[in-house]
Formats: sequence, C-alpha cells, structure tokens
Amino acid sequence: MLAELDSLKATALAELGRLQDAKALEDWRIRYLGRKGTVTQALRGLSALPLEERRALGVAANALKALLEEGYAQRLQALRKAELSARLRREALDLTLPGRPPALGRLHPTTQMLRQICGVFASMGFQVVEGPEVEWDYYNFEALNIPADHPARDMWDTLWIDGADPQGQRARLLRTHTSPMQIRVMEQTRPPVRVVVPGKVYRYEATDATHESMFHQVEGLAVDEGITFADLKGTLYEFAKALFGVERKVRFRCDYFPFVEPGVEMAIDCFACAGKGCRLCSGTGWIEIMGAGMVHPEVLRRVSYDPERYTGFAFGLGLERIAMLKWGIDDIRLFYANDLRFLRQF
Ligand code: PHE
Repeated sequence: MLAELDSLKATALAELGRLQDAKALEDWRIRYLGRKGTVTQALRGLSALPLEERRALGVAANALKALLEEGYAQRLQALRKAELSARLRREALDLTLPGRPPALGRLHPTTQMLRQICGVFASMGFQVVEGPEVEWDYYNFEALNIPADHPARDMWDTLWIDGADPQGQRARLLRTHTSPMQIRVMEQTRPPVRVVVPGKVYRYEATDATHESMFHQVEGLAVDEGITFADLKGTLYEFAKALFGVERKVRFRCDYFPFVEPGVEMAIDCFACAGKGCRLCSGTGWIEIMGAGMVHPEVLRRVSYDPERYTGFAFGLGLERIAMLKWGIDDIRLFYANDLRFLRQF
C-alpha cells in the first residue's frame, strides 16, 4: 500500500511537470484531488483498514495530498505568469512606430480664387458684402433697367421659382447675376459706396466645358460724386495686374448691359502667348475677363440717388472663368464634380 502511494506520487508529479495550460491542470486536479480523485479515494479507503495500518498509511496519504495540493498551487501560478507574459508580449505597443499624420484639408479652388479677388479689391478700399441667391424679379431685372418683355432678358436664361409664367416684379427666381446686389446696397446706404459682392449665380443652361448651371460671380460697385470712366479703367487695370501680372495690358471695348452706360467688356492681353495668339486666346491675343460700365442714370434714380450729383461704375466677373484661365483648367464641370484628383491639385 505504501508502495502504491509512492508510485501514485511519482506519476502525479511527473504529469504535473508536463502540463502546459490551465485546462490540463484543472483536469489533473480533478483526477487526483477531486471528490472522486485517486488521492481522495485512497484516503477514503483507509477507514476499512485496521488501526495500525490506517495510522501509518494515513500520515503518508495526507502528506501526499498536501504535496500534490502544493504542487498544484505552484503550477497554477507558473501557468498564470506564463500566460500573462505571453499576453503582454502579444498586446505590446511598438512605441517606435511613426504616428499616422492627420490628413490635411485644403480650400476649394473656388474659395481660393474668391478670397484672392476680394482681397485685391479690399486692398483698394472695397467692402465685401453678400446677398440672397433666391431673388425677386425686381432686383434681378426690373430695377436694373430690364423691364418685363425687354429683349435683354434673353441674355440671362433664368430659373424661375414660381413656375414658367412669372407674375411681374414679385416673381421669384434664382439670381442670374450678382448685379441685383447693386440695388440692394444702394437702397440701404448713401454714397460713397464701394462694395464687391461674391456669390453663386444660376443659369438655365445646357452644361458643357464652359457652361454650368451654377457658378460664381464677383460684382463690383463704386458710386460717389465725381467718379468717371477713368476710375473704372484705373481700378480694373490694377486688378488685372494684381491677378495676372504687372506686365498685363488691358483693352476695353463697347458692350451692352441695360444697367450701365456706356457698357464695356474688358480684356487682358493673353498671358500665355503675350498677345501673339494661341489656343488659350483662340488666336486673338486677347482674353475677355469681365463686363463693366458706368452705372445707368435710370438705375441711380431707382434708388433715389441724384444722377446729376452722383456717378459710379460697376463690373461683374465670372469667377470660375478667371480661375480656369489662371490655372489652365479646361472644363468648368471639374469644379463641382468633387473629384479629389482634381481638388488635390490646388
Ligand atoms: N451682370 C452682368 C452679367 O452677368 C455683368 C456686369 C456687371 C456688367 C456689372 C456690367 C456691370 O453678364
């Protein structure tokens, strides 16, 4: 019997030494120390023995039980420690890895152009103001000396809000240009007026490489006593030089807009070919960049400015067109297609 306990001890300890995980250890514990385990059974079996034998074996069996329990506790701790260090190794952070830089955003080319243009005029003393995109017929046309049925309305293909059959001055539309803000500004202030108005405008138009149904304009207006066409030329010449280079030449030719008299179209000499004629300027050497003119006396009268006392000039430019010229963009639809390959170039 004693020999049996010895060999039991030997196998149990040998097994214990080989155990590799908590599950195997638990199985081992149940096998030897569980309620029906070998050691437990042996202890229980002692009661059937005569007293002398029982005493000797009892001591030995209890000692074995204590030994195995001790071995179990140690092994458990060792396994837990090994598991912990394995886990720490597995979950370790490599602090030497370089961090991921946050993605940098950028300003949309339209925004950049808009700020640049407004910045040039602001430096000349113009105030930047904005106005509504949903506009009354009155401001978009009527007050700008374009009455209903005036053929000049065909210059702007209009998106009407209130249906195809507009009801006079109170019909709503999407503004076709930023010029209605000329009226709104003058209605609310007395001269001197010097403002630029950047903003979205809308045209009912088939889209192609040079036409979009939404684009941006920057309007300009200066009204005071003694303003002449020379002021218009000087101001716009300064603008052209600031944006397209000091060597630029400008050209003014007659054009027609009902709210200015005289009206002009302004062009700069082609900066790509220096006026020799190329693809950018369609061989003419000149690039038209905006419409302008002296504010029509009829428009001044509308807002109760005395045309005998006050004069002024106005201009309106297409922002995307200027950006396309400056950055060599050949399709206006690129601006609002939200293709990152395009946007990331600015
Ligand atoms: N509003 C005109 C257009 O959209 C441009 C313009 C503005 C012309 C101011 C003259 C003066 O075509």
